[in-house]
Amino acid sequence: VASQPAIVFIGFMGAGKSTALAAAREVGLKTTEVDELMEADLGMSITAAFESKGEEAFRAREAEVVGELLEGADGGAIALGGGSVLEPRVREALAPHIVVWLQIDGEEAWRRIKGSGRPLAHSLDEVIRLQGTREPIYAELADAIVMPAEERVIERALPAIRALERLPARTRLLWAVSASGEYPVFVGDGTLESDWWPLQGRRFCLTDRGVGKLYAERVEPLAARIEVDPGEAAKTMASAERVLEQLTEAGMTRADHLVALGGGVIGDLGGFCAHTYQRGVAVVQVPTTVVAQVDSAYGGKTGVDLPQGKNYVGAYHLPAAVIADWATIRTLPPEELSAGFVEVLKTGLLAGGDLWGGVRGIETGGLAAHSWVAFACARYKCEVVAADERDASLRQVLNLGHTVGHAIEAASNYSRYRHGEAIGLGLLATLRLSDAGELRDEVSSWLGRHDLPVELDRAVGIEDVIRAIGRDKKRTAEGVPFVLLSEPGQPVLGRLVEPDRVEAAVEELYE
Ligand SMILES: NC(=O)c1ccc[n+]([C@@H]2O[C@H](COP(=O)([O-])OP(=O)(O)OC[C@H]3O[C@@H](n4cnc5c(N)ncnc54)[C@H](O)[C@@H]3O)[C@@H](O)[C@H]2O)c1
Repeated sequence: VASQPAIVFIGFMGAGKSTALAAAREVGLKTTEVDELMEADLGMSITAAFESKGEEAFRAREAEVVGELLEGADGGAIALGGGSVLEPRVREALAPHIVVWLQIDGEEAWRRIKGSGRPLAHSLDEVIRLQGTREPIYAELADAIVMPAEERVIERALPAIRALERLPARTRLLWAVSASGEYPVFVGDGTLESDWWPLQGRRFCLTDRGVGKLYAERVEPLAARIEVDPGEAAKTMASAERVLEQLTEAGMTRADHLVALGGGVIGDLGGFCAHTYQRGVAVVQVPTTVVAQVDSAYGGKTGVDLPQGKNYVGAYHLPAAVIADWATIRTLPPEELSAGFVEVLKTGLLAGGDLWGGVRGIETGGLAAHSWVAFACARYKCEVVAADERDASLRQVLNLGHTVGHAIEAASNYSRYRHGEAIGLGLLATLRLSDAGELRDEVSSWLGRHDLPVELDRAVGIEDVIRAIGRDKKRTAEGVPFVLLSEPGQPVLGRLVEPDRVEAAVEELYE
């Protein structure tokens, strides 16, 4: 039995597995490239082996060679062939190791490999099709996913990958990549139980009084701990100023970093303070609510509210790392768990497919048992952010339900409804505007079963909601664009809707 796991790179042709091995060699790991091993074993090139023996015979031999290699591997790094994972013996033998999937899309793969004469890759269409069939296998096996990036990304991601050895079993890593930077996202159940930490330098922790009491000791040692009152009321300019002053008094320098420990409020406020303190210090996001673990901790949007509008002041500030521990979810009060479920529902609706299927399988009150949700939603969000970090187009899909939801929050002074509750109502209005009546009914029954409001309190005036919609940050000269969704997985962006339809969809919420 191996005493140490090996780091095993998997992924499609052209994903950069050889480059990854070179990076592993550079940090002193013993490396093995399966394609080379196979060529030595067969006494010919892989292309020649495919031609003379056929794919089936090649795979059978590969299963023996790679199975044996993995079963006996003790530390080091191994790069598998793109198709090695098709063999059950290989998949089983991967279990004790750290499996790293180097993600690449079909078009980029084709750009990198065309003309190389690789078997099974004769045209762009063929490559896209093959990549599509392999992707779910890679995704399922991966302990770490490195999002598509230039090939040398692995040099930067390797320390985080190696950290998995020191983190609790089944912690998963996503190396998130977007326009302005990259960072590791660790997601697991018990992640905070390790003493491993992603950054050097002193830690200054921002938290709220409730979360601080429960979890601050898990992120020690701390140079200082700053606490605000729990809840949305802490997301103001005045509170940011107080935090910044306390950081100054505690002597924080630019070599130090902030730890934002808490829900979305702390993540947004902490990220904003990190962005502005001495023009920018690093922030490690440690999300402790469902909302924060499935959504707000990723992607770098930070900010505070103004009395006139939600999130009206803010900045983009990517985290230096995210450490999400699903175990913390279990101390959430049931109302917060339910409110968080709305973000899960939203992500399921946007992503469609397996994610929507999985979300529909979550029984009432059972979310805490589904730690897979955090990683799946984090991946979805990071993929959207990768395509459009600065909210110029695709990222706006994440606002599904938020135009009306934020307006409800603003119109009720951020106090009547939790964020998730307001977004749930916003989803209902949006599905009406999308002419998706059946889906609206389904979502409404979901919300009801999770003890979430499906009716808007009359105390929140419709004129106030409509006025707040008119002030939405996404407003252009033409009007307020909505994200609509007629079926799961099919969001459409930037739809202008006639004001009387918007009003009717909001009015319906009071019924
Ligand atoms: N930046 C983004 O991309 C983004 C995305 C979505 C939402 N948000 C923002 O997130 C905020 C909502 O976040 P939230 O729902 O996490 O609210 P929150 O941060 O107010 O947390 C909710 C409550 O749960 C408590 N709590 C937190 N973790 C706990 C734990 N593990 N155990 C027990 N209690 C715990 C908190 O003290 C608080 O009272 C909103 O301000 C919203 O605008 C931001």
